[in-house]
Amino acid sequence: MKTEIVKVTEEQIRQHDKNAFSKIALAGEIIKKGGLVAFPTETVYGLGGDALNPDSSGKIYAAKGRPSDNPLIVHIAEFEDLKLITEKIPETAYALAKHFWPGPLTMIFKKSNQVPKETTGGLDTVAVRMPRHNTALELIRAAGGFVAAPSANISGRPSPTLAKYVQEDMDGRIDMIIDGGMIEIGLESTIIDLTEAVPIILRPGFITKEMLQAVIGDVQIDRTLLDGDSIQIPKAPGMKYRHYAPKGDLTIVEGEPERVAEYINKSYYASHEEGKRVGVIATLENMDRYHSDCVKCIGSRQDEEGIAKELYRILREFDDEEVEVILSESFHTTGMGQAIMNRLLKAAGHKKIKV
Ligand code: TXA
Ligand code: MG
Repeated sequence: MKTEIVKVTEEQIRQHDKNAFSKIALAGEIIKKGGLVAFPTETVYGLGGDALNPDSSGKIYAAKGRPSDNPLIVHIAEFEDLKLITEKIPETAYALAKHFWPGPLTMIFKKSNQVPKETTGGLDTVAVRMPRHNTALELIRAAGGFVAAPSANISGRPSPTLAKYVQEDMDGRIDMIIDGGMIEIGLESTIIDLTEAVPIILRPGFITKEMLQAVIGDVQIDRTLLDGDSIQIPKAPGMKYRHYAPKGDLTIVEGEPERVAEYINKSYYASHEEGKRVGVIATLENMDRYHSDCVKCIGSRQDEEGIAKELYRILREFDDEEVEVILSESFHTTGMGQAIMNRLLKAAGHKKIKV
């Protein structure tokens, strides 16, 4: 299959650029006919297919090499459309939608029989998100209103934050890629399950627990998310897989900056002796402490949003540069830091050393 790549910027959509809209119309037709189109959202690039067509969901699993028990998120562009795909909309959903939709929040509901089991990985619940990226919203409308879209990476690789990474993983496997440039947030949406008596966060993201609590009160968090030793199975099926994995062997090093640098430099020399390429994920504040030949700055500790945006790109760059050993600083687990550490721990297969 030849994968067509088209460039559409959010600015063009805002300006009602005719050329951009005709590309989106074409992309919408592809999805309506059962094809697949990768597109930008504010979180990461998504791999879109018709959420109400079981064959499309099958194609998404095949293109990603993803286990078909791992459900997809249904993306909508109008709140009204939620009614068609859900059984019941709790009050909390109205409040959350008012505050955070369109935006990086996914809510889980009891599904209606309009949504095929293929899309929900056999579950009787459905995950729904209204993204706030203008290109994504126009594509969803052009595609008929319901677009199933996981992150547009091969299963187990970091989610793409640039179209070139989508192309790296998906070229020849899907019909079209809409290149909208660099993604704004860089980590996947927060997922909250509203089918429980007390809503529960299944995946942390840009919308933090504190932000959710300010709107709907009591919110729990799935304990398996940060605790690598937990024997419980996470409730979002996707969270149980070793995700976001770089090719190199990643270890997180936690402690006072001097001790962390001492440990990382020692490990660097040891691996270097063995002829291995070593990469370090460093913050602006500490990057000068490291001796490795491949130190990547993930941004300032003062700017967690900047760190979130750079994480997946850096992991992919280490892959491209064939780095075999990766050592990373650790981050606080409050606010947005919770999402950053959740993804970093998963990428490291929960390998964290305290020094
Ligand atoms: O930001 C995002 O959410 C991106 C963009 C493209 O919108 N999408 C994304 O999709 O991250 P994906 O498929 O990579 O991750 C979806 C996660 C998986 O962990 C999956 O198990 C969980 O959502 N999920 C989906 N439906 C669910 C359900 N009904 N119950 C529990 N977890 C569900
Ligand atoms: Mg994903």
